[in-house]
Amino acid sequence: MRTPFVAGNWKMFTTADSARKLATAAVAGVGQDQRVRVAVAPPFPYLALVGEVLKGSPIALSGQNLYPEKEGAFTGEVSTAMLLDVGCKYVILGHSERRHKLGENDLFINRKVNAALAAGLRVILCVGETLEEREADHTEAVLERQLTLGLADVPTSPDLHERVVIAYEPVWAIGTGRNATPDQAQLAHAFLRARVGQLLGATFASQFLIQYGGSVKPDNAASLLKQPDVDGALVGGASLNADHFLAIVRAAL
Ligand code: 13P
Repeated sequence: MRTPFVAGNWKMFTTADSARKLATAAVAGVGQDQRVRVAVAPPFPYLALVGEVLKGSPIALSGQNLYPEKEGAFTGEVSTAMLLDVGCKYVILGHSERRHKLGENDLFINRKVNAALAAGLRVILCVGETLEEREADHTEAVLERQLTLGLADVPTSPDLHERVVIAYEPVWAIGTGRNATPDQAQLAHAFLRARVGQLLGATFASQFLIQYGGSVKPDNAASLLKQPDVDGALVGGASLNADHFLAIVRAAL
């Protein structure tokens, strides 16, 4: 039985004040209910203050990125130790905005995945095809490449399913209001689960979580989340509204 996992990716939104209010409302809405795993990923400058608000709540704190070196002259970058220091349990890696707007490739993302796991952070690894790739019928090839290269050299262990979450985020569905249909999401998720099974073993494949991300809203969340291989959501825009985010968390029940 996989516990659903809903995470809010706040991207480059919020202020200190709105981040505090959003986190406070999420904490009140979730209470001590742990039937759905919940995380929020604020921008770096607000991680510590949101972490304070989350104390005592089951909502986990997540970074949106990291740099895969322990420390050093890497101006503007953030290390695994810094994320852990401010209370992060998760980090989002390989997000399509970092792949396509900031030029990250699979090898660099893989370095980050391994650095995060070695440091004890849990990884949400995002994969997903562009519209062009989907229309050229390359969806599975792209997912296969991003998954295989992204997870290369990941150390296997019995608790790997706790430490690695995959987020299927079709690029054409992100911030566009155009979500994948439940059938499209299910097909991609089933493909990812099968491929992960070949890479990391059948036990892991049956246990690990695959979130769907891309224009998840309160009114489409339930139909996406009831697909057998959709284990939760990685929510962008709707996670900036506490009522909408909490409605999506409830839809995961
Ligand atoms: P939207 O929910 O705004 O489409 O963003 C999805 C996303 O990129 C989450 O990481």
